[in-house]
Amino acid sequence: MSGIVGYIGKMQAYPFLIEGLYKLEYRGYDSAGVAVQCPDGLKIIKTKGEISNLEEKVGKNLLAGNAGFGHLRWATHGKPSEINAHPHRACSDDFALVHNGIIENYLQLRQWLESEGHRFISETDTEVLAHLIEHYYRGDLLESVQEAIKKVTGSFALVAGVRGEKDRLICARKDAPLMIGLGENENYISSDFAALLPHTRKIHILEDMETALITASAVKIFNSDCTVLQKKAQQINWDVTSAEKSGYEHFMLKEIMEQPQALRDTMRGRLLDGGKKIDLSSELNFTTQEIKDFAKVFIVACGTAYHAGLVGKYLMEKILRLPVEVDVASEFRYRDPLLCENTLVIVISQSGETADTLAALRLARERGHKILAITNVVGSSVAREAGRVLFTYAGPEIAVASTKAYLTQLLALYMLTYYFAQERNLLEQKQLEKAGESLFNLPAQVETILDREKEIPKMADYLSRWENAYFIGRNMDFAVALEGALKLKEISYIHAEAYAAGELKHGTLALVVEGIPVMALATQNAVLDKSLSNIKEIKARGGYVHCFAQEGSEALQNEVDSIFYLPPAEDVFLPVLAVIPLQLLAYYTAVARGCPIDNPRNLTKSITVE
Ligand code: AGP
Repeated sequence: MSGIVGYIGKMQAYPFLIEGLYKLEYRGYDSAGVAVQCPDGLKIIKTKGEISNLEEKVGKNLLAGNAGFGHLRWATHGKPSEINAHPHRACSDDFALVHNGIIENYLQLRQWLESEGHRFISETDTEVLAHLIEHYYRGDLLESVQEAIKKVTGSFALVAGVRGEKDRLICARKDAPLMIGLGENENYISSDFAALLPHTRKIHILEDMETALITASAVKIFNSDCTVLQKKAQQINWDVTSAEKSGYEHFMLKEIMEQPQALRDTMRGRLLDGGKKIDLSSELNFTTQEIKDFAKVFIVACGTAYHAGLVGKYLMEKILRLPVEVDVASEFRYRDPLLCENTLVIVISQSGETADTLAALRLARERGHKILAITNVVGSSVAREAGRVLFTYAGPEIAVASTKAYLTQLLALYMLTYYFAQERNLLEQKQLEKAGESLFNLPAQVETILDREKEIPKMADYLSRWENAYFIGRNMDFAVALEGALKLKEISYIHAEAYAAGELKHGTLALVVEGIPVMALATQNAVLDKSLSNIKEIKARGGYVHCFAQEGSEALQNEVDSIFYLPPAEDVFLPVLAVIPLQLLAYYTAVARGCPIDNPRNLTKSITVE
């Protein structure tokens, strides 16, 4: 989820590049750099940290030239550093390239290129692309890029330049956005509209496996067979602010809609062969014996990450038959927790900077336990201190209310669980393949739910007129109910509570009054009859029940006030699907109440203090 800009034309390139990088900085980044075709060569300047650091460094080095490109890095492979910042060169200083995406097979390509004599200096997957293009270069950069991308598996949006071809930039794209803005004797490149719209509204959006040759006066786009396409430019009428949100009104809705891609990016290179194989070995670096020796799992996190951990508990105890304890980090760190031998401590944190979670990690480390972090930020404190990390690749999450990061945390826990089941020989190969395929199909199932977004505002309209609401569920649905309640609370300011559905009769039923909205999660078919009886308890007392269940749960149809059917799947996978309508419900309820959405009162994105 890095940011790319490029320029070629009648003006100096650098001013557009630096302006464009600032336009993309909302996407989050840890380093920045530019490459410009100067009279004396293809010059690169890059720095870790703020764009202002880059500006300062460029300051005195005149980057005069009419063609160039820039990059904001959101690290995925290789910690944030100047060496790992883009643009990247190859062996010779003639080449430079910037890239957004994940090269899945970069290790294999790097080994092959090293065997061909290439020398690498960074830890990134991107540098492999630069050397690959150099390897195929025979005097035509477009051809070498077209050749190189055929060897790559994964996702890429790239811009490349070479010293001997000052009058052109070459682009390519697969599963990562890249667009070309058309000007008068100048053309622009960017990862998204925000950097283009101040200059042009005539835009080509590159499609997968398309490449482009861009000069000051022309743009040629080629399909995967390298034949020229006659494409009509699109006219984009968004304003810049809405462009940053890809046309959505709020970052939260944009990030809810990005979840299928976030899941695909997080499973990439880990769920192989359509999900038939799960391979985390190189990332986790546990021996099979270590995995077999684990006698307990302890998950520690805060807020939404804690709720992901609760789903993980139900999942791991069901599949691994291992005892799993889950605790909020602020409690864990001060209660002198009992951690028995062979306990794996998993810390979950989107930001990787939550003070309580970091303190919990340090406590577990002091006691000598193996620690695995699940985090979304490469180079974060949690990532650096955990020793072992299973990164989520949700990309920068801007809205305070976590959505896509949470969903990828769930996916990470599922992949970890089935990988452990494989290593502990707990499941037949067929069962493992079936589970992997179920995970592989989740993004498409999430897409079908998101396509029904329009069903939510009506439900939200009712909910928005109440100051209290309840979320109930049994088994894994209880963990999802907690997350649904938090989403609603933190952006609509409605007092929402989640309860294990079987608990209502032990007190909370006293609060059920005529019409009060109750969100009933009833996706776990194994306990559907029990959920149904809890729903009847509420209806008998006048509650207004919105139900979320799997398609085919007809018994509920006439017992509730509204029902949102989810795509059918094995119970154990439903948490990934059930949370989607709850996220949308929280969003549209908050919109109906005129709340600010992305930055709710009293909250910040990362709680780096106690
Ligand atoms: C979730 O919507 C909240 N913004 C909050 O609970 C968040 O999940 C919590 O602060 C943990 O943050 P982390 O994942 O970055 O550690």
